[in-house]
Amino acid sequence: MKVIAVMNEKGGAGKSTISIGLACALYRQGERVVLVDSDPQGSARDWRETAGEGAYLPPVIGLDKPDSIKDGLKAFSSMDWVIVDTPAKAAKTSGVIINAADFVLIPLQPSGLDVWGASAIVNLVGSYKDMGGQVEAGFVPTRIRPGTRLGSEILDGEWNEYGIRQLNSVVCDRESYKKSITDGKSIFETSDSAAKGEIDCLLEEIQTILKGN
Ligand SMILES: Nc1ncnc2c1ncn2[C@@H]1O[C@H](COP(=O)(O)OP(=O)(O)O)[C@@H](O)[C@H]1O
Ligand SMILES: [Mg+2]
Repeated sequence: MKVIAVMNEKGGAGKSTISIGLACALYRQGERVVLVDSDPQGSARDWRETAGEGAYLPPVIGLDKPDSIKDGLKAFSSMDWVIVDTPAKAAKTSGVIINAADFVLIPLQPSGLDVWGASAIVNLVGSYKDMGGQVEAGFVPTRIRPGTRLGSEILDGEWNEYGIRQLNSVVCDRESYKKSITDGKSIFETSDSAAKGEIDCLLEEIQTILKGN
């Protein structure tokens, strides 16, 4: 079982959107995957409920109490993949989740506030590694609008003094991400092949990094 935790204490960073995308991509590849919704706000659960039981989409399980997360995640050991969508201000649960994760994926939007806001999760990952913990981590730029100055500044990576790699994959700002979630669908059921390609690339890059271990 491999656990990808999508984390950033900044609200609205794009965690749920990317978690849903990755879980759907794996599901369509025939992998055994569960999407764990550890955000009490329950966005991923709302999305899955909107879709209905028979939908060709991965299962979403809510685990948002710090005590239940650790054992709850262990219960999925027969899965190939667990994707964990996490809340903003995750202080009580982040430690447990980082501990269980093989990869901490940090979505980052192109603005100074978002770069500064990422320091909280960077510090948590850093402390975990300082204590001998082993986890891969990476930033993925998201909601990028090609051709904008802020977009280019994030993509060139010079902002990154955090000691955590920036992935080559990029998620752009696309209506289809919003609309598919509102409609209880996956991006793969839309005609937006650029969006599908972005999520597939992101998944492949994470898989390649994890295979290197
Ligand atoms: N790549 C994207 N393109 C367009 N809208 C996006 C994208 N990613 C996220 N959003 C929108 O931004 C808002 C916050 O995204 P969300 O995934 O809920 O973030 P978080 O889970 O980190 O709070 C939502 O309204 C979502 O639809
Ligand atoms: Mg969310």
